Amino acid sequence: MSAAEPTVTFPEGFLWGSATAAHQIEGGNVNNDWWAWEHNPESGCAASSGDACDSWHRWRDDVDLAADLGLGAYRFSLEWSRVEPAEGEWSAVTLDHYREVCEACESRGLEAVVTFHHFTTPLWLTARGGWEAEDAPDRFARFVERAAGRLGDVLGRACTINELNVIGVMGYMVGAFPPGVKGDLTRHLKVNETMVRAHRLAADALRSGPGDFPVGLTLSMAELAAAEGGEEVRDGAEEILENMFLRATEGDDFIGVQTYTRLHLGPSGPVEGDRNARRTQMGYEYRPEALEYTVRRAAAFTGLPVIVTENGIATDDDRERIEFVGEALRGVRRCLDDGVDVRGYFVWSLLDNFEWTYGYGPKFGICAVDPVTFERKPKPSAAWFGTVARTNRLVDAAST
Ligand code: FCB
Repeated sequence: MSAAEPTVTFPEGFLWGSATAAHQIEGGNVNNDWWAWEHNPESGCAASSGDACDSWHRWRDDVDLAADLGLGAYRFSLEWSRVEPAEGEWSAVTLDHYREVCEACESRGLEAVVTFHHFTTPLWLTARGGWEAEDAPDRFARFVERAAGRLGDVLGRACTINELNVIGVMGYMVGAFPPGVKGDLTRHLKVNETMVRAHRLAADALRSGPGDFPVGLTLSMAELAAAEGGEEVRDGAEEILENMFLRATEGDDFIGVQTYTRLHLGPSGPVEGDRNARRTQMGYEYRPEALEYTVRRAAAFTGLPVIVTENGIATDDDRERIEFVGEALRGVRRCLDDGVDVRGYFVWSLLDNFEWTYGYGPKFGICAVDPVTFERKPKPSAAWFGTVARTNRLVDAAST
């Protein structure tokens, strides 16, 4: 930010946070479908999640990092396969563990934002068809009820399912997520419906248990752009990738928006867009403005308060991260100026971690993690983001 620019500030109480997910940071999650997928030579996965960031043991370091930076919230997820390692068998130790994490957040002034499903499903359910099993939504809701029964009074906010719109398309169309099916639109659409049902049942379970906290889902949203002649395809994609899930938020307290890029759709599907576009380590188009687009769309569609539950960039150049997040936040400010109700922003991610199919290549973290000692090393973007959070305004990277 140059000295001549007007100061970009955020409303009092704006929630600043950082996000993680169990399978990407805990390590040793051997009892879920992703572990099996990572170890399947056909899957195309770059690596095993292995010990990840060893957050199962080092979670205090993570909570301390977020708190020491001056953030107001820490988003993490529960690993269902640890809580319910076999069908109907509950691990008290695991629930105690997550309770400790929530309590530590509370005592360090962080809102514990807890996601109940972040891509991974226990193997016992996968063996019976995963999300295609008739009773999958009920089994999920039973887990949520059980976990919330133990954690409800220490939860700051609950996200039922992370990116429930991604599970069907990646698992049954693209084939990059388990079960690795390619091009099966019928199954994709059926799983979409199942995810909506699972969300609704989970939200009911959360509301009927102890505690009183906002409940919502998180959605992967992109700036979906029509390339020449691609309007119809774009509208169709918008419907099955986003709109049907936006409708499913009725009765929720907020909508979690997660955005990384813009996608271009031509008359017969996705196209590259600008060949010379700047790209991130994920191959995504560098497009921080996409967040402004999706926040506006989510708010207008649902009428709900928006929380940006994930946004960030995979890059080895930490200055580029500051540039990207700064640009994205300017877009959030423009939304606020127009009266859009945006309540918070969570950077993905607190740590460099296991990036699913891509393994440990892409660096999304504001903190690096040593793969041998697991020591966390905050990058300059961590100090910068912490200052933004503490002062509630965009600051020059050089001043932090
Ligand atoms: C989102 C996921 C998250 C992370 C980021 C980069 O789709 O929710 O786990 O992998 O992308």
